[in-house]
Amino acid sequence: MTLIVIDPGLCARDGICVAECPQGLLAPGEDGLPVPVPDADSRCIRCGHCFAVCPKGALKLDGLSPDAAPAVSGRSGLSPEAGLDFLTSRRSIRNWKDRPVPRELLEKALDAARYAPSGINMQPAHWLVVEDSRVVRELAGMVADGLRHAGIMPDYVAAFDAGREVMLRGAPHLVVAHADASGWYDPATDCVLALSHFELAAHALGFGTCWAGLFRRAAETWPPLRERIGLPPGHKVCGALMAGYPKSRFFRLPPRKSLRLRYL
Ligand SMILES: Cc1cc2nc3c(=O)[nH]c(=O)nc-3n(C[C@H](O)[C@H](O)[C@H](O)COP(=O)(O)O)c2cc1C
Ligand code: SF4
Repeated sequence: MTLIVIDPGLCARDGICVAECPQGLLAPGEDGLPVPVPDADSRCIRCGHCFAVCPKGALKLDGLSPDAAPAVSGRSGLSPEAGLDFLTSRRSIRNWKDRPVPRELLEKALDAARYAPSGINMQPAHWLVVEDSRVVRELAGMVADGLRHAGIMPDYVAAFDAGREVMLRGAPHLVVAHADASGWYDPATDCVLALSHFELAAHALGFGTCWAGLFRRAAETWPPLRERIGLPPGHKVCGALMAGYPKSRFFRLPPRKSLRLRYL
């Protein structure tokens, strides 16, 4: 399939796609119509910027027509203040309502996570949603076993053994991002960014999350846990989030370190 097809009747020859391509794969032709460079197909990272930025919808990418892509409305009405309030009001949730998050909402948040940035647009994240809270409890026990076996976080292990579920905080669900780590590319940052998108999408959709760092740590080294979650060969767990409806409401921002900032 041809990578890029430009409709000469629609193209305004404005050079926007030429300027936008991060790989420099488009050049203005003789009449100003953008032309892909000869090796564009192999060097294209499928970021879709040329396709998404064209105001005329003149460019097809990999056979995808602009009409078939969701439009960015730009009319969400979110003021700068509301946007910042949204970001700063996200909190880690550790007390949950006894009510599951509907699958449609979890999938809506995961769908938003597909739009997170990723190095050379690799989009490496694979997802596992542990929907059943009984399985989350079982995994919490395996996290404790893994940490005990590795000889780390003894305080947490002791608290867990004493009956405090500090491993996965009694969460109704667990969302795990894992990726192929067998090659040269380390997918960890991209997966964390995708999880971060998920976390903010959850906040927008009215449910809450908490990073499950102990789960990720145990999954690094504890074979029974890796086996139980069906981790494919070569994959690593890059991060996980507990999820559910928050029991508490937060009325003010918590204190934070002051901004340590330098300019150069
Ligand atoms: C860890 C990471 C490293 C990146 N490094 C670069 C970079 O060095 N130069 C660059 O132009 N873009 C870089 N990007 C941006 C990606 O190419 C971009 O996120 C991807 O093509 C998807 O496009 P989008 O962010 O517009 O959705 C990086 C992204 C991530 C997450
Ligand atoms: S999809 Fe991205 S990398 Fe590929 S030609 Fe378009 S702008 Fe360039």
